[in-house]
Amino acid sequence: MVQNAFSALSWQRTLYVNGFAGKRPKVPAQWHELYKAGKEVMSEKAFAYIAGGAGLEKTMEANRRGFEQLQIVPRMLQNVEQRNLSITLFGKLLPSPFLLSPIGVLEMVHSEADLAVARAAAAFHVPFIFSNQASVPMEQTAAAMGNSPRWFQLYWSKSDELVASLVQRAERSGCQAIVVTLDTTMLGWRPRDLNLGYLPFMEGKGIAQYTSDPVFMQLVREQLHQPQALETKPPITWQAIRGLWKMASAFPGNPLANMFSPLPRAAVRLFVNIYSRPSLTWENLRFLRQHTRLPIVLKGILHPEDARRAIDEGIDGIMVSNHGGRQVDGAIAAIDALPEIVQAVAGKIPVLMDSGIRSGADAFKALALGATAVGIGRPYAFGLAIGGERGVREVISHFLADLELNMALSGCKNILEVREATLKRRS
Ligand SMILES: Cc1cc2nc3c(=O)[nH]c(=O)nc-3n(C[C@H](O)[C@H](O)[C@H](O)COP(=O)(O)O)c2cc1C
Repeated sequence: MVQNAFSALSWQRTLYVNGFAGKRPKVPAQWHELYKAGKEVMSEKAFAYIAGGAGLEKTMEANRRGFEQLQIVPRMLQNVEQRNLSITLFGKLLPSPFLLSPIGVLEMVHSEADLAVARAAAAFHVPFIFSNQASVPMEQTAAAMGNSPRWFQLYWSKSDELVASLVQRAERSGCQAIVVTLDTTMLGWRPRDLNLGYLPFMEGKGIAQYTSDPVFMQLVREQLHQPQALETKPPITWQAIRGLWKMASAFPGNPLANMFSPLPRAAVRLFVNIYSRPSLTWENLRFLRQHTRLPIVLKGILHPEDARRAIDEGIDGIMVSNHGGRQVDGAIAAIDALPEIVQAVAGKIPVLMDSGIRSGADAFKALALGATAVGIGRPYAFGLAIGGERGVREVISHFLADLELNMALSGCKNILEVREATLKRRS
């Protein structure tokens, strides 16, 4: 059942009325302020991990520049009293064209992590794409959402058995699509994290989908009995012992018992070795088709030829994304890649898009260029850091209101009309 109780004007009014009584929103209504407020509450390492990108962060810059170069050309006198933001995606009616893109390791910014995001997404019936690197097992996150829509994002592991297990769990958890992220067959070169020497997975964070998986845990136990190849061991320092404690705390069960168990370390080691498969090709995707009847979405498509190939391979949807500039430095902005991809796809499958969306107006531009729906990424992670579930709810409210008002003020009553709207590229 789709609830569409949200109204831009009533949210706008609430903020003004609360302000009259001296109460400000928990989450600033504009990205730059949200960014500043989020930075203040995050640890140095969490901020580096969430805000940072690959290399010189030129892709991140390009994502923003791409939006800034696009200008909306509003139309007047279009009777926009009745407004409707709903779309149909994979046969399901959704009240808005927003999705929450998968973001891993949310425990770095808030203890309720994915659960808080799930509850906030459910309040608006916005699909939440569970990350393969989530902090909470998908079954628990799904249970926090009632019958609200959720999808599962998969990193293709070196173990096909694990891939199949994750996908089956996603189906059982009521996920309505499988999003395969293609752009992260290995981690990008991320100087902010490298300078801090920090990777959350080494503390056992962000691997809850694995440690809750029977196939993965079986592999961990098997690995315990095998001689270990030479590996880089950290020097024994207080910091390393604290890291081990964090790892033991992140692992299911009693942290003290975990401290003396080889399992948490073996799980982290195995995760690092098998979480992704650099040898992945189009042929592998057929395996997924055989293991799920859910729609398959490929995330990370930036070339029109890859979009065409996806259609030829029977893929159900694509997500134009450069992972928020975290993978290839100097890659094309997702918003710049979008028009050619939309043209190549020619309406055969939905084209979703994320990377750089910071406002409702940005969403409007992506929709006007032909995106079927758009993914909010970093902004909701910042909202989570600031205010947990309420923070994420406010971020979603700001996006919904901003889109609805920009839509109406540009002369569009619904998303179909947004698709016809005029954009001009600043020269
Ligand atoms: C901290 C962080 C973690 C992310 N983790 C994942 C992930 O686990 N899986 C995935 O497919 N994408 C992941 N992404 C990429 C997002 O899904 C999305 O593509 C990106 O955030 C969009 O860029 P934007 O946030 O700058 O708008 C992550 C992004 C960030 C910032």
